[in-house]
Amino acid sequence: MSEETPRPPVDDTPGTASPVDDTGHTQGDLREDVFLPSTYERAVPYELFARLRREAPVCRIPEPAVGPWKEGPGYWAVFRHADVKHVLRTPEDFSSHLGATQIRDPDTPADLEFVRAMMLNTDPPAHSRLRRIVAAAFTPRAVRALEREIAERARGLFAEGECDFVEVAADLPVWTLAHVMGVPDRDRRLLYDWASRVIGYQDADYAGLSTAETDALTPMGRQAVARRPEPRPGVNPRSRAALADMFAYAHALAVSPPGDSVMSAMLRGGLTEAEFENMFFLFAVAGNETLRNGIPGGLLTLLGHPGELARLREDPSLLGPAVEEMLRFWPPVMDFRRTATRDLTLGGQRIRRGDKVVVYHASANRDPSVFPDPDRFDVGRAPNDHVSFGAGPHLCLGAHLARAQMRAVFGELLSWDVTLTGAPRRLTSNFQNGLKHLPVRLRRRRAVSRPPA
Ligand code: HEM
Repeated sequence: MSEETPRPPVDDTPGTASPVDDTGHTQGDLREDVFLPSTYERAVPYELFARLRREAPVCRIPEPAVGPWKEGPGYWAVFRHADVKHVLRTPEDFSSHLGATQIRDPDTPADLEFVRAMMLNTDPPAHSRLRRIVAAAFTPRAVRALEREIAERARGLFAEGECDFVEVAADLPVWTLAHVMGVPDRDRRLLYDWASRVIGYQDADYAGLSTAETDALTPMGRQAVARRPEPRPGVNPRSRAALADMFAYAHALAVSPPGDSVMSAMLRGGLTEAEFENMFFLFAVAGNETLRNGIPGGLLTLLGHPGELARLREDPSLLGPAVEEMLRFWPPVMDFRRTATRDLTLGGQRIRRGDKVVVYHASANRDPSVFPDPDRFDVGRAPNDHVSFGAGPHLCLGAHLARAQMRAVFGELLSWDVTLTGAPRRLTSNFQNGLKHLPVRLRRRRAVSRPPA
């Protein structure tokens, strides 16, 4: 990475985000910005979050109609670190199951019923049963066994010249995910396309994305592609019909999965059909899209802080804390939703049973009561109690695997000069803190020759 790189055109430091003052916005309009996917196409509104953390740390956010996506009932947003952790750690009050975990409600009662079978959308004790079935593949020990292969793969990612870093970096998470799941390597791009469909439905560029080349796929992969539904703008892809090709693939793979894979653990675990399909769905998205955004987001953050990049180059032992700081500063997942199970009070607000409650990881990570000088990017920050992997029973199962991949990529990038060659383009999403394009030039750094002692 190049210390001389100019400050990136997409800047997530305060002062460039959603206008808070002098705009003539009413308070209501400002709150609407928290919800609107278009806000995040420009930048994460950190300044607005800071103001709401101070003035209205738990508040109502409206959900106006967005394109074909109908108006919603509104929700309670939670901005402070302590409240975010409390909500995530108290599933008996804040359920992942009642209304599932996305801001937008599923389109139909049948769609809700279907996604409720996903581990992500269950509460203890049902959740603990599902998590136990797949947990072994994600322990620190299991991840350590994979680290060498991940590092090797990361070393082969980059080549001299210009590229879209988003595209180049995305291959590591899909390769790793395919490896862990037991999906044949030739079919790994299918995982990428399914994740794009699910996450990108708020963004026309992603919704119908199809990067898998049919000729390269296994027969099982080709059969799945043949069943791909036509993209229907505005239709929530979190439904059985909209993901028919992915589920057909999951069932085909289940006929003879590799012995030590997550797929075979799922088959041994006694899952119902809906649980099986949803588990495959969960991994296809969670293990892929998050890093596809988090790795380029981490790079863009480093390029915007050349002093911190130079510090990391000087002292590569800071790689571990630097990855944590990248995750704090650029949380790949900005929020998650829960539903109140009873009437209760949070942050001085009366919340009614059945209300949606949305926690903002992106805001909690900048809470000055936990992070001194929270808008400063500090590769040596310790402690760093960020919530980018969540908290409580649903704490990211893939966190060790994600960290291993980020350490491998950024460890490798220390040997390269990276210069931005164009404007980064952000994803239109109020959920994933995404980059669609990050044009860069890569040049291998020559070893510094030291004068003889
Ligand atoms: C930097 C990358 C990642 C980030 C920021 C991230 C973030 C998160 C967050 C915030 C949650 C909690 C959801 C909730 O509270 O409802 C979660 C859950 C989960 N993540 Fe990750 N994730 C990442 C990478 C991965 C990877 C690589 C995998 C697997 C290969 C993975 C698998 C999962 C699974 C299975 C869950 C559900 C856990 C449960 O319901 O108990 N994640 N992730």
